[in-house]
Amino acid sequence: MRPSLVAANWKMNGSGDFLRDYAERLELDQPLKIDVVLCPPSIYLAELVRALRETGVACGAQDVGIQPSGAHTGEIAAEMIADAGAEWVIVGHSERRIDQNEKDDLVATKAAAALRAGLKPIVCVGETLAEREAGHEIAVVERQLEAVVDRVDLDGLASGAIAYEPVWAIGTGKSATTAQAQEMHAFIRDKIAHVDAAIARKIRVVYGGSVKAENAEELFGQDDIDGSLVGGAGLDPIQFAEIVHAASR
Ligand code: PGA
Repeated sequence: MRPSLVAANWKMNGSGDFLRDYAERLELDQPLKIDVVLCPPSIYLAELVRALRETGVACGAQDVGIQPSGAHTGEIAAEMIADAGAEWVIVGHSERRIDQNEKDDLVATKAAAALRAGLKPIVCVGETLAEREAGHEIAVVERQLEAVVDRVDLDGLASGAIAYEPVWAIGTGKSATTAQAQEMHAFIRDKIAHVDAAIARKIRVVYGGSVKAENAEELFGQDDIDGSLVGGAGLDPIQFAEIVHAASR
């Protein structure tokens, strides 16, 4: 069986005080039965790694530069993220696809950069409301997924995860229904199975979009939902722990 993955994306939230308080208040049953990851803003990665030492909880970045080093002001290399002690990185989050105009090609290059440094990528895919209303959700997710699957080492990709995050469900309080999520997750796994059946069985496909303690258990009960990338609820260590426990059952 695939171990579940529950990751919190703090987005541009937090502070030194916030992370120290969070690490103190995060109570998880030990030993962890699943992969648990916190993704703070990169400037806090090293400190959060230190604060979580001995807990089994890993850290991840929310984005990554594509070059290993050099004249790229403001960028952070995958190697630097790994050097800070992080193990994971989110790539292609819809907020970056929209706000920073990140295209499929760049997302694939970022996933490859993560793998080059030994980081586990969480590759985000998902349609907007307009795309779903036009009936294009499968085509959009297929395009986003293909860009990455065609370009990166699949064994490496399988160490990470694909996160299905319908844009209309992010931060809106309106989660996809379990049926909508399961349908898309099954599509994603099937699409990967066409390239490599063993990788498709191994890779985690996690759901993101208004996941809370109240809806987590039902989502995680679906065959192809292997955990979650959590936004808002991941800012509260009590709620986040409940989501982790729901995925650990
Ligand atoms: P949300 O965000 O849980 O606040 O909807 C999810 C995400 O953006 O990863």
